Amino acid sequence: MSELSRIGVAIDSALLQKFDDLIARRGYTNRSEAFRDLIREALIEKTSERADSLVVGTLTLVYDHRVRMLADRLTSMQHENFHHVLSTLHVHLDHDNCLEVLVLKGKSSTVRKIADALISTKGVKHGRLTITTSGAGL
Ligand code: NI
Repeated sequence: MSELSRIGVAIDSALLQKFDDLIARRGYTNRSEAFRDLIREALIEKTSERADSLVVGTLTLVYDHRVRMLADRLTSMQHENFHHVLSTLHVHLDHDNCLEVLVLKGKSSTVRKIADALISTKGVKHGRLTITTSGAGL
C-alpha cells in the first residue's frame, strides 16, 4: 500500500446523513473505508468499460436441465472458451432447476461476449455477470 493522504470533503449535511445511514446498513464502521470502496468501485467500473482491459467476472446462470440439449449446449460453449473459464460450480437447486456459477477471466469484451452468449441461450431463465478486478493496481 502506498502512503496515506488525508483529504477534507465538503458535503451537504442531509446527504452526509443519508450516506452514514447507508454505510451503517452495509456494516461499515467508519466513513474512510466506505469512501475508499466507492472510489474502487468507480475505478473498476470505468476499467471494465474498456474493451481491452483485463477483468475477472462471475457469471451466474439458472436453467432447467430438462430443456432438450441445454446442458450440453452450455457445456460446449464453455469448452469452446476454456482459456477464459477458470472454474465452474454447479448446484442442483431442485428436481428441475440448476444454478451454475462460472469464473471468467480475460479481456472485458471477451468476458462479456461469453457471458452474453450463455445468458441468451434459449432455456436459460436468468443470468447475471458481475465484473470485478484481479486486484492488481488497487
Ligand atoms: Ni443440476
